[in-house]
Amino acid sequence: MIVHWSTSSPALQADLAPERSTRQRIRSLRGRPGQPLLRHPIPCRAYDRTRNNTAVQIAPDSLKLAVVMVGLPARGKSYTARRIERYLSWLGYRTGVFNVGEYRRARVGARLPHSFFDPDNPRGEEARRSVAMAALEDMVAWLTDHGQVAIYDATNSTRARRVMVCARCERAGFQVLFIEIRCDDPTLIEANIRSTKLSSPDYEDTDPDEAVTDFRARIAHYQRVYQPLEDDEGAYLRVTGAGRGVTVSNVDGYLAARLVFFLMNLHLTARPIWLTRHGESVYNAAGLLGGDPDLTPDGHRYAQSLAEFLDRCDPDRKDIVIWTSSLRRAVQTAAPLGRTSWPWRALDEINAGICDSMSYAQIQEHLPEEYEARTRDKFTYRYPRGESYQDIILRLDPVIIELERTRKPVLVIAHNAVLRALYAYFQGVSRERCPHLAIPLHTVIELTPHAYGCHETRMPLEPRLDSREAL
Ligand code: SIN
Repeated sequence: MIVHWSTSSPALQADLAPERSTRQRIRSLRGRPGQPLLRHPIPCRAYDRTRNNTAVQIAPDSLKLAVVMVGLPARGKSYTARRIERYLSWLGYRTGVFNVGEYRRARVGARLPHSFFDPDNPRGEEARRSVAMAALEDMVAWLTDHGQVAIYDATNSTRARRVMVCARCERAGFQVLFIEIRCDDPTLIEANIRSTKLSSPDYEDTDPDEAVTDFRARIAHYQRVYQPLEDDEGAYLRVTGAGRGVTVSNVDGYLAARLVFFLMNLHLTARPIWLTRHGESVYNAAGLLGGDPDLTPDGHRYAQSLAEFLDRCDPDRKDIVIWTSSLRRAVQTAAPLGRTSWPWRALDEINAGICDSMSYAQIQEHLPEEYEARTRDKFTYRYPRGESYQDIILRLDPVIIELERTRKPVLVIAHNAVLRALYAYFQGVSRERCPHLAIPLHTVIELTPHAYGCHETRMPLEPRLDSREAL
């Protein structure tokens, strides 16, 4: 709903009453000594707060998406499923993973010998079929009810099984996208078995070598019946060579195409991502929001400490990608690093709209409705004429894709809200918790992505600002 001040409709005037008082308060703010001059003194209601909803809408006529994984064990299906879930959930799509292995552990048991997976073992076959159906029916119910994207994480190794899964999803009215993970590299498969399967409840308290031998035998059972996905089976995306090759067929629609784009950029090369806020700014020191202020002397000292930190990590000065926001305080923080840095508007701080250059105390005093709305729900709250956390997540999508794509170490020099959103993506923190994450000034957060998450180290650098953490 967009409402303009010029309306003479009594109903709309009543609707606008709180905004009128906001306007009057803002007018009275202008020209007061010691008060910052507001950039946008006439507020308009550009959104409807009653529509606050943390899920992102897909096109009203587009079908819900069922992603069906295909591949032999230890190829990285669950890793891929979880990455898709994390990415889409972060963007705001209600996404769920239905892992058939977990259903089997809960209903039949963990620690089953490889013979359970032998296709010539009728009791094992029947038990596996039954848990696969249970997971499928739960997925259909969840997606029908309130989900937007569901991932059916199972081997789905025969054509007959895939035809059945596809028919069930289509009957429920879902779009189906197969994602097949193929990998023939024995070194990668061995590494995957050792890094993921040995810690699985299936092999709890089992001698590692015995576990590896058993898991190899389990793979051999699947290999005997595995039928690679064929072109006539529907829309698919095939990932080969640990992400080096992606084949796409019949993919249709925004969400499915977005997944293709995401998976094309995914890789497992270990490298650090350093997140840091700019050095302390004049506004930080004064407790004000937003603006485009310069660094304080302490802020410049932090930029020097950051340069020394980078020199320790990369003495040859050739291997690090540096992105800053386009704001002065971030660009000034990168200045002493002695390396090329790339300013990027997508990394600019949350736009505080009419509250830009105010302190929280001033907002509370002069715009109490805004203050209260923000306190009630910091995630969906959008500053009038500004942004919400939801908005910044959407504008950070290309940054995430580039961070996933880049194989070199990356340093991101940005701002509190923006870094909270990036951090939430990498650490799988829910979107709603974003506004409450601690991203202190003068601290480098090192994230090293690995197969099942991110290793994190926080390194406070000089000068410490422990007592000044308001904004
Ligand atoms: C499992 O039971 O661990 C895997 C089931 C499957 O997807 O075949």
